[in-house]
Amino acid sequence: MTKNQTNDDASEVTENGLAADIFIRAVEPEDAPGVTTLMNLPGYRWGTMRLPYQSVSTTRQKMSTSGPNFVCLVATSKEEIVGMASLTRFEGRRSHVGAVGMGVHDAYVGNGLGSRLLTSLLDVADDWWALRRIELTVNADNERAIGLYKRMGFEREGVLRDYAFRGGAFIDAVSMVRLGNAPRSGQSSET
Ligand SMILES: CC(C)(COP(=O)(O)OP(=O)(O)OC[C@H]1O[C@@H](n2cnc3c(N)ncnc32)[C@H](O)[C@@H]1OP(=O)(O)O)[C@@H](O)C(=O)NCCC(=O)NCCS
Repeated sequence: MTKNQTNDDASEVTENGLAADIFIRAVEPEDAPGVTTLMNLPGYRWGTMRLPYQSVSTTRQKMSTSGPNFVCLVATSKEEIVGMASLTRFEGRRSHVGAVGMGVHDAYVGNGLGSRLLTSLLDVADDWWALRRIELTVNADNERAIGLYKRMGFEREGVLRDYAFRGGAFIDAVSMVRLGNAPRSGQSSET
């Protein structure tokens, strides 16, 4: 395990059956091919905003927009990228706000990996960035994702109608938010 990897499951197999050789670490430029393979999986595409036939060069382009306000994690199993999650912090008067995006390999969903990835991001949001508001949008029919987000403290804010086009149909999305317990230094005063 390298320095920037975490593996909080000490046993060979976790209680929910997920193999323990899964590590979570920061994404690296050389991960682009593995990330592309992940993003081209049909289940991953169905739950996210990815288009079919994403190329490695497109992935590289997206990955190159990183900076101090962007954290992107990958989960790996035996060198394969099996999950990805990112947190973007906005700027200026929205610098207390972050947005989450994530996805897990089709063969690994429902085993707690999404929970682990999101927990890692929320640690950054709460303990290192003091984010007050974390927001996301999720396809309205993505019950597994909505279930996960609710369990992690997100609430529904509203429905975004015909938000995206997917598989030949317009679909609704749900806007969700988690208001964190970021420390506040005092009362705000209006001027
Ligand atoms: C959504 C996603 C990230 C969740 O990751 P995951 O590893 O499957 O999630 P976990 O196993 O940690 O947790 C899923 C939770 O949803 C619950 N769940 C599963 N199916 C469900 C369903 N049909 N309805 C409601 N809850 C459901 C599980 O029971 C679990 O909760 P629990 O641990 O309390 O039992 C993953 O399924 C995924 O990547 N899907 C494809 C891409 C995608 O949809 N990305 C999200 C974009 S917003």
